[in-house]
Amino acid sequence: MKLMNFGSLNLDRKYGVEHFVAPGETKSANSYFENLGGKGLNQSIACARAGSAVWHVGAVGKDGMELLHCLQEEGVDTSHIAVKDIASGHAVIQVDYAGQNCIIIVSGANGEVEKEQIQEACEALEEGDIALFQNEISNVAYGIAKAKRSGAKVAFNPSPFNEKISEVDLHDVDYLIVNEGEGREIVGGESSSPEEILAAIRKNYPWIKAVLTLGEKGCYYMDGEEKYLQDAFSVKAVDTTGAGDTFCGYFLSALLKRYEPERALREAAAAAALAVGKEGAACSIPTRKTVEEFLEKKE
Ligand code: RIB
Repeated sequence: MKLMNFGSLNLDRKYGVEHFVAPGETKSANSYFENLGGKGLNQSIACARAGSAVWHVGAVGKDGMELLHCLQEEGVDTSHIAVKDIASGHAVIQVDYAGQNCIIIVSGANGEVEKEQIQEACEALEEGDIALFQNEISNVAYGIAKAKRSGAKVAFNPSPFNEKISEVDLHDVDYLIVNEGEGREIVGGESSSPEEILAAIRKNYPWIKAVLTLGEKGCYYMDGEEKYLQDAFSVKAVDTTGAGDTFCGYFLSALLKRYEPERALREAAAAAALAVGKEGAACSIPTRKTVEEFLEKKE
């Protein structure tokens, strides 16, 4: 059983700042790093480090060979990644003193993931596999429909949330993984508490198994029968970039291993906490051993 991740691959340019740049303001950065990232790449690495087989579907430019090699070093299958005649996607990331981030993405090659490429990858999906989508590549709605018809379970992390999400038929989605803002948007954009968001997901999409992440307030899992709250593990936030992706990759790996949702939440929350304590996106994702040792100390 494998994760087939249809996702973005970005070159991240990270600027450390005291506070986020305000309208009309020019600021000097305190630090600057170039890292590998993209929600897709981060999630693939997290799932692979958690111990699962991962295939990545996406696109890079000729400047993006490092992205390919990084996935290969993690044991991820990259045979469904296209190399395009356009620059790779990149992200401009401000990280403030509290470790919070704000991000601008430029889709680049991520916007050239073709329907034919998606169709070909879907042909390699088998029962028991999970197909994962975020919202940083082209043809997401098409991919979700195709993946579902291939017999795999479909996981959707509608991030970043924008108007393209409305093209997705949520009937094809088995697992929905959202943060508080995305959860609120998906149920109509009204301001509501986490419990109200979960109740609205349940009411509008009763077939969906939902995960709602709440940062330092923890995370919820909910399906038709069960609902769990996992508290966040307390850590000093250095850089929250990629923490949600780490959570997602670890959670889906746990599902592939047939762990109960409660255990999957706990492992994913621990992995995300460890990622928050380190600089960068992909480079902050912990190994399975680190997560296990961290959890042992918590018992
Ligand atoms: O979730 C973090 C990621 O979002 C970054 O790595 C950046 O590339 C953007 O895709």
